[in-house]
Amino acid sequence: MLQFVRLKRFVSVAAVIYQRAGLQVHFESTFLSAVGVMYTTRRSFDQVQRLRVRTKALQHDYEIKISRGILDNIGEEARACLGGHARRIAVISNQKVFDIYGRRTIRSLDASDFLVCRWLIGYGERFIFLRTAEQTLAFLCKSGLERTDAVLALGGGVVGDLAGFVASVYLRGIAFVQVPTTLLAQIDSSVGGKTGVNLSLGKNLVGSFHQPRAVLLDIETLTTLPARELVAGWREVIKQGAVASHKLFQQTTAFLNQLSSNKSALVSPKLEALIASHCAFKAAIVAGDEREAAGRKDHRSRRVLNFGHTVGHALEATTRYRRFRHGDAVGHGVVVAGELSKNLGLLDASGLESLREGVRLCGPLPRAHDIDETAIMNSFVRDKKSVGGHIQWVLLERIGRARIVDGKEITPRLLRVSLRAGLRTAQGDY
Ligand SMILES: NC(=O)c1ccc[n+]([C@@H]2O[C@H](COP(=O)([O-])OP(=O)(O)OC[C@H]3O[C@@H](n4cnc5c(N)ncnc54)[C@H](O)[C@@H]3O)[C@@H](O)[C@H]2O)c1
Ligand SMILES: [Zn+2]
Repeated sequence: MLQFVRLKRFVSVAAVIYQRAGLQVHFESTFLSAVGVMYTTRRSFDQVQRLRVRTKALQHDYEIKISRGILDNIGEEARACLGGHARRIAVISNQKVFDIYGRRTIRSLDASDFLVCRWLIGYGERFIFLRTAEQTLAFLCKSGLERTDAVLALGGGVVGDLAGFVASVYLRGIAFVQVPTTLLAQIDSSVGGKTGVNLSLGKNLVGSFHQPRAVLLDIETLTTLPARELVAGWREVIKQGAVASHKLFQQTTAFLNQLSSNKSALVSPKLEALIASHCAFKAAIVAGDEREAAGRKDHRSRRVLNFGHTVGHALEATTRYRRFRHGDAVGHGVVVAGELSKNLGLLDASGLESLREGVRLCGPLPRAHDIDETAIMNSFVRDKKSVGGHIQWVLLERIGRARIVDGKEITPRLLRVSLRAGLRTAQGDY
């Protein structure tokens, strides 16, 4: 362990030196997580940022590659991670994303000798139900995909969750590759192997853990993303920073401040580095707790990534997935969780203000104060993270330090007060 600590220190120092000198270098830093799982980050400047994700349970470790223009090399990248036996590849996307990036993707896959078929789904949450999965599975079957073939998800979190789910159950599981094209998908949903579809009773109630063979991430795709989607994505970035570390939270808010005065910062090495840091955080959490073990309540359990999501999912469900982008609902959830943390005496006023400020910096937030409180409270009951009938609330002790609190320790009155304050604050301030 000591050797790893020394090694980590050494390579970090080396990286800083090279970065300052602006040299074209390739460095690698190696970490050993608490459970003895290894992951690696690499960067060759002006080329590609790489993270290697490996968990105990995984048969294949995989790489997250971040590079501008990687879309033109999707074929080579897919061939490299899928091997020579893969003949067919099903590109799952939606019309909008496919119209912009489909041709390039297919050209590149063709050039690497894949037989490509494509399946386009509708837009948004309302289109990922079991029926959609069944239709997609029938398509894979009719297209003749075999065990050694693969699915490629080209799109945001909705496409990625559905594509991952069908890949996990088709022929008892085939390979899949994530090509996330939204900010939310790039820092969050494409990393970690959670897949799923919704039931009318609630979000993601059916799903599986199925890790991708590779995550290939081109930040240039963010330039075509509608502003509202970008804003919603930033709220997930804020959420992740808040549970990761004070440093990552600050880097995120500093970048958002910069972006508000200089839009061109969106496609910059700085954003690539920020996304890489978020992916590294998420990958480390996943490596230590791949399946979100029910017994874990520590601040590095996978559960902490659900910060803001209990209220977020409830808002989505009570408005039938029509009013909010997922990230926006989470933005409200982050503020409410902050209020609850403060009301329980865990988080101080400045911590709560930082959270509010972070959510505010992302951009306009759809109103939520008019939604029936009782309907929201009833929706908590179906929260799939419940243990023994009690919600496991992810709260904050401070920015960068989450605490999981059993719902039975929180009175309905305190919950209502926090909910009201959080949703009203959002309405008043944003
Ligand atoms: N699996 C996980 O771990 C995980 C984590 C977080 C969120 N999620 C899920 O992700 C989903 C939300 O994902 P999302 O925010 O990416 O939304 P999304 O997939 O609905 O994409 C948003 C919209 O942007 C469009 N779009 C995507 N990329 C584009 C581009 N580059 N240019 C132009 N338009 C583009 C899409 O067509 C869509 O209309 C939710 O269902 C959420 O539950 C999953
Ligand atoms: Zn989310």
